Amino acid sequence: MASARKIVVVSNRGPYRREGERWVRSAGGLVAALHPMLSERGGSWVSAKHAKDFSTVEGEPDVAYDLADVRIDQELQEGFYMGVSNAILWPLLHGFPATMHVADAPWQTYVTANERFAEVTAEVSGDDDLVWIQDYHLMLVPGMLRKERPRSRIGWFCHVPWPPWSLFGILPWREQLLEGLLGADVIGFHTREYVDHFLDSVDRYTGYSVDRVRGTVRLERRTVRVLPAPIGISVDKLTELSGAPDVLEKMHTIREQLGGRRVLLGVDRLDYTKGIPERIRAFGRLLDADPSLRDEVVFLQIMVPSRTDVAAYAELKEHIDQLVGEINGRHGTTGRVPMQYFYRNFDQRSLFAHYRAADVAVVTPLRDGMNLVAHEYVISRQDEDGVLILSEFAGAAGHLPEALQVNPYDIDGIAQAIRDALAMPRDEQQRRMQALRTEVQALDVHRWADDYLTALEHG
Ligand code: UDP
Ligand code: G6P
Repeated sequence: MASARKIVVVSNRGPYRREGERWVRSAGGLVAALHPMLSERGGSWVSAKHAKDFSTVEGEPDVAYDLADVRIDQELQEGFYMGVSNAILWPLLHGFPATMHVADAPWQTYVTANERFAEVTAEVSGDDDLVWIQDYHLMLVPGMLRKERPRSRIGWFCHVPWPPWSLFGILPWREQLLEGLLGADVIGFHTREYVDHFLDSVDRYTGYSVDRVRGTVRLERRTVRVLPAPIGISVDKLTELSGAPDVLEKMHTIREQLGGRRVLLGVDRLDYTKGIPERIRAFGRLLDADPSLRDEVVFLQIMVPSRTDVAAYAELKEHIDQLVGEINGRHGTTGRVPMQYFYRNFDQRSLFAHYRAADVAVVTPLRDGMNLVAHEYVISRQDEDGVLILSEFAGAAGHLPEALQVNPYDIDGIAQAIRDALAMPRDEQQRRMQALRTEVQALDVHRWADDYLTALEHG
C-alpha cells in the first residue's frame, strides 16, 4: 500500500445514487474504479448531492469510507453539469466539437460549482491528506484549493482523453482551465498520447516552461508532474465474481434463452462517443450479406441510461431504436429477432453473466479515455476463449494489442471483424485471450492507485 496518509477523493459523481428506496451504484468507469480503491484503503469521498436528494432522510449508503456532500441545486446543476460539463467539456475532450454549444455557455455556474467543491474539500481534508480530484467537471478545483492550502499534496486525474491543443484551444476559458489544473502537484492521464496533448496545450496557452522528456511544467514556485497512469479494474474481486456459481448459472440460462445461438455483446452507457449506431449498422450489413446468420447469431446490446436531460442523448436513443427496428424488421422471424437491446442499469452479477455468455464482445467507441468494459470482458473469460473486438480509438487499445482492433467509423471493417471473430479457431482465441488476461491483470486498479498516490506523495 502506497501511503499511510488519508486519501480524499473529490468527484462530481458519487459512488451511489438513490433509486426509490434503494441505493444503487452509479454507472461509469470513474465510480467503477474509485469505489473498490477507496473501499480497500478507507478515506473520504466528496461528491455532488442534488436538489432532489436534499430532503432524503433515510441516511447514507453503507460504504467503508466517509462521504461528504456538495449541495448542487437545480439551477447550478443545469448550468455546471449539463450546460458546461456535458454540453461542452465532454464533447470537446472526446473530439466532437460539432456537438458543442459554446456560445452563451453558463460558464459562471461552472466556476461557482467548482468553488463549492473546493470549499467542502477544504473543510473535510487536512494539510497532510492526499487530495485526489477527478475529471473534467472539476478542472478549477486544484487551483482554488491550492490558494487555501499552499503545502497540501493535490492530484487531478483525467478519466477522458485530452485532445490536440488546437481543439482544446476552442474553449474561451482555456487559460483559466489550465491555470486551475496546474494548481495540482500531479496530473494523470490514461495514455502517453493524452499527456503529450496536455503538455502541448500548456506550452501553447500559458507562459510556463514545459519539459516533455521529464513530463513536468515549471511554475514560479512549484513543479507540476504530468504522467501516464492507465487505470484498470479490481482484478481479484472480479475474477472471483466471474466464477461464482450464481453467475455461471445465470450464464447458462442466458445461453439457453437465446436458443444456442452465438452471442455478440455490447455494453455501454448510452453515449454518442460509444459508436453504438455504427456497430449496429455493421451487424445489419453482416446479416444483409449473409441472411443465414440470423439463425446462428444474436447481438445483445446493454445500454445504460445516461445524461437523459441532454438533447443529444435523447436523440441518440431515438436513432438507435430506429436502427434496431430496421434490422429486426428485415431479419426477424416469428419469435426470434437477431438484435436485442436493454435500456437499463445492470447489477454487476448480471452484467458478468452476460460477459460470460458472450462469444464476442464488440467494444467500438469512436473515442474513449480507457474503456473498462473491455477489461471486464477479458477478466470474465476464465475459460480463456471469447474474442474482444476493440476500437483503436479507446485508450485501452494501446494496452491490449491482442484484441481484434477496428476503426469504429468503418462499418465494413467492423462487419469484417465480427466475421473474423466468429470464424476464429479456438486455439487462436485462447492464445489471444491468455495474453489479454495478462495485460488486464497488470493494469489492476489497486496498482493504478498505488502508483499514482506514490507519485502524489513523494513528487
Ligand atoms: N456498468 C454499470 N452498469 C451497467 C453496465 C455497465 O455500472 O448496466 C459499468 C461497467 O461495469 C463499467 C462502467 O459501467 O465498469 C463503464 O465504464 P467504461 O470505462 O467502459 O465507460 P464510461 O461509462 O466510464 O464512459
Ligand atoms: C464517464 C466520466 C465520469 C462520469 C461517468 C458517468 O466515466 O469520465 O466522470 O461520472 O462517465 O457520467 P455521469 O454524467 O452520469 O456522471
